[in-house]
Amino acid sequence: MKFFIDTANPGEIRKAYEMGVIDGVTTNPTLISKENRDFIPLIEEICEIIQGLPISLEVLSLKTEGMIEEARNLAEMGDNIVVKIPMTIEGLKAIKVLVAERIKTNTTLVFSPTQALLAAKAGATYVSPFIGRLDDISQTGMDLVAQIVTIFKNYGFGSKVIVASIRHPIHVLEAALIGADVATIPYKVIEQLAQHPLTDIGIERFLADWKKVPKK
Ligand code: G3P
Repeated sequence: MKFFIDTANPGEIRKAYEMGVIDGVTTNPTLISKENRDFIPLIEEICEIIQGLPISLEVLSLKTEGMIEEARNLAEMGDNIVVKIPMTIEGLKAIKVLVAERIKTNTTLVFSPTQALLAAKAGATYVSPFIGRLDDISQTGMDLVAQIVTIFKNYGFGSKVIVASIRHPIHVLEAALIGADVATIPYKVIEQLAQHPLTDIGIERFLADWKKVPKK
């Protein structure tokens, strides 16, 4: 299972990269806006940290032509750029063209299994169901992931499933049990995954007991 980090914050990306647990980065316009920095230098800094790992950057155009133009420009920033395209009919048309140009795509804002099926048929590299936002409206987001994974397996689609809009460690656990290809995780949740109170208590106890060992 691959872990992407869901942030545009270089400090968080560096910390997660140094932990050795991340395989890529995803961003969106909201995450970029939080950094309050010029877009291009921000992305250049992130790319320097992650050394060729995939990074998803989102287009803002709503029409196919605009999406394609933006995608081409973004893709020029490096081989590791994955272009995030919203799950719309215009977006599907853009994905088809970008696939032919070997530009990697991540279909974003996926909320139903049939949307995922369309994205896979269009040839998207990645498909991103947003599970936290479904949970927010009392629909079990993880059910969507399970359905998408089953559909992709049934037909051998090459698109990878990125479980997105993750809010807590249980989301990561459930995604792993289902066998999703990727979880894109906020930094705070990556830290939560590493923590356990019994680990902390165990370390304290070992250190206390070690003090009792006679030393010359
Ligand atoms: O990966 C998608 C993610 O950035 C959206 O998360 O918490 O805004 O639903 P959230």
